[in-house]
Amino acid sequence: MKRYGWHTNCELKSEYPSEYALVTGASSGLGHGYAEELAKRGYNVILVSRTSDKLTKAAEELQGKYSNVKILAKPLDLEKVTVDSLEQWFKELNS
Ligand SMILES: NC(=O)c1ccc[n+]([C@@H]2O[C@H](COP(=O)([O-])OP(=O)(O)OC[C@H]3O[C@@H](n4cnc5c(N)ncnc54)[C@H](OP(=O)(O)O)[C@@H]3O)[C@@H](O)[C@H]2O)c1
Repeated sequence: MKRYGWHTNCELKSEYPSEYALVTGASSGLGHGYAEELAKRGYNVILVSRTSDKLTKAAEELQGKYSNVKILAKPLDLEKVTVDSLEQWFKELNS
């Protein structure tokens, strides 16, 4: 799992050619904007936040706009989740 910050002039897709980008706090605000910029650049994106219905709405909106990428919604409370459980979910996603 790679973690990185946003640089508008950086070609993230060639620097980090992972299959998915995971964006936390992605149902609104900065996270949602971040997720949209990644989808626009051709990334498959996993949106994470706590509230399932807000998350589903955000995922449907982005998927409607960017049909060439996969947008997944994963409801998680980041105050409770562990890196191990997240990595386990990634393994299941890729199997
Ligand atoms: N807005 C700015 O100008 C600005 C500037 C500098 C720094 N920041 C910081 O950047 C962060 C985001 O700011 P924002 O304005 O985009 O905030 P926001 O609009 O309130 O977005 C918060 C997002 O995080 C999710 N979230 C909150 N608690 C969570 C948790 N425990 N687990 C998973 N998801 C959680 C929310 O969805 P749910 O409630 O459904 O979980 C929502 O999607 C904040 O920490 C803020 O202090 C913001």
